[in-house]
Amino acid sequence: MRIFLAPMEGVVDHTMRTMLTQVGGIDRCVTEFVRVTTTLLPPKTFYRLCPELHKQGLTPSGVPVYVQLLGGQPEPMAINAERAAQLGAPGIDINFGCPAKQVNRSDGGSVLLQEPDRVFAIVDAVRKAVPASTPVTVKIRLGFNDRSLLEDVTQAIFAANASELTIHARTKEDGYKPPAYWDAIADIYANSPIPIIANGEIWSVADYHQCIKESGCQDIMLGRGILACPDLARQINATQLEQHVRVMDWLMVVELLVQFCVVTEAMYERKYVGNRVKQWLGYLRRQYPQAAVLFEQVKRLKWPEDIAAAIALHKTEYSKAI
Ligand SMILES: Cc1cc2nc3c(=O)[nH]c(=O)nc-3n(C[C@H](O)[C@H](O)[C@H](O)COP(=O)(O)O)c2cc1C
Repeated sequence: MRIFLAPMEGVVDHTMRTMLTQVGGIDRCVTEFVRVTTTLLPPKTFYRLCPELHKQGLTPSGVPVYVQLLGGQPEPMAINAERAAQLGAPGIDINFGCPAKQVNRSDGGSVLLQEPDRVFAIVDAVRKAVPASTPVTVKIRLGFNDRSLLEDVTQAIFAANASELTIHARTKEDGYKPPAYWDAIADIYANSPIPIIANGEIWSVADYHQCIKESGCQDIMLGRGILACPDLARQINATQLEQHVRVMDWLMVVELLVQFCVVTEAMYERKYVGNRVKQWLGYLRRQYPQAAVLFEQVKRLKWPEDIAAAIALHKTEYSKAI
C-alpha cells in the first residue's frame, strides 16, 4: 500500500509539501501542473514549481516529487519532460484531469479524455523522451462528459507504457461534487498491467477502507482530505500495520501552522503569508472546529508577524480553555 499526495494548483506547493511530508505517511508527491504550449520552458519555470529539483527532487523529509506536465501536443510535452528529467525530476506525471474551462479551451487537461489517440501520442512521446529509469505516470478522471471512453483511454495509456495511472473517480462533468465513484475503477484495476491509484473523496480512515474495498486498488492519492487532516496518511498507514498512532490534536496542528508561516515567508513575498494560512484554515475547518475560530481571528490580518501573534494568542487561550 502506498499513499500519494495529490497535486493541487495554488494549494499544494513546495511549502505545503514540506509540511505534509514532515507529518509523515506520504510516499510520493506531484507538483502543481507545468503548463506546456508549444515551447521549451526555461529551467526557472520548473524550479519555481518544484524547488525540490535543487535537492534531488526530494522534499526535506526525503519524499520524491514528480513534476506534472499539462498540454495537448506530444512534441512540446516530450521536450519539456526531457528538460524536467535533466533537471533531476524523479518522475514525470501527465495531467489529463484538469476540469478548468480556460485550460480545456486551450487544449489541455480533461478535454483530451475525448481523444484516446492523442492521449496515446502524448504519453508515448513523453515516455520515449525521458530515460527508461524515469517513471512516467498519468492522472485522469473517469471521462469528460461521461465514462464511455474510459476503457479506450486506459488502454491507450497502457499501450504507451506508462508506469502508473492515478484515477480521480469522477468525470469532468461531475466536477468535485461528492460522491467519487470508486467502484468505477474496479474493472480497470482488475485488468491493468500497471499499478492503479485510486483518488477522490478520501477524508478519513473509514473512507480509505471503503475506497480500497470498492476499487480493489491498494494505492491511493489524498488531496483535500489530507489538507483537512494533516496526519491522515499516517493514520491510514497505522491501521494497515495494526499499530496505534496518536491522532494529531488541535495544538499540534497549530504548531504546524506556525512552521507553515515560517517556510512560506522564506519562499514568497511577505504579503502572501496571510492568504496561505487562511487558505489552509479553510480546509482544516472541516476536521477541526477550532480552525474556524482561528480563521475569524486572522481573517483581516496580512503580515506574517501579525498572523504569528494572533496564532500565539489563540494557542494560549485554547490551552487555558481545555
Ligand atoms: C484547488 C485544486 C487544485 C488542483 N490542481 C490539480 C493539479 O494541478 N493537477 C492535477 O492533476 N489535479 C489537480 N487537482 C485535482 C486533485 O489532484 C484531486 O484529483 C482531486 O482534488 C480529488 O481528490 P480529493 O478528493 O482527495 O481532493 C486539484 C484539485 C483542487 C481542489
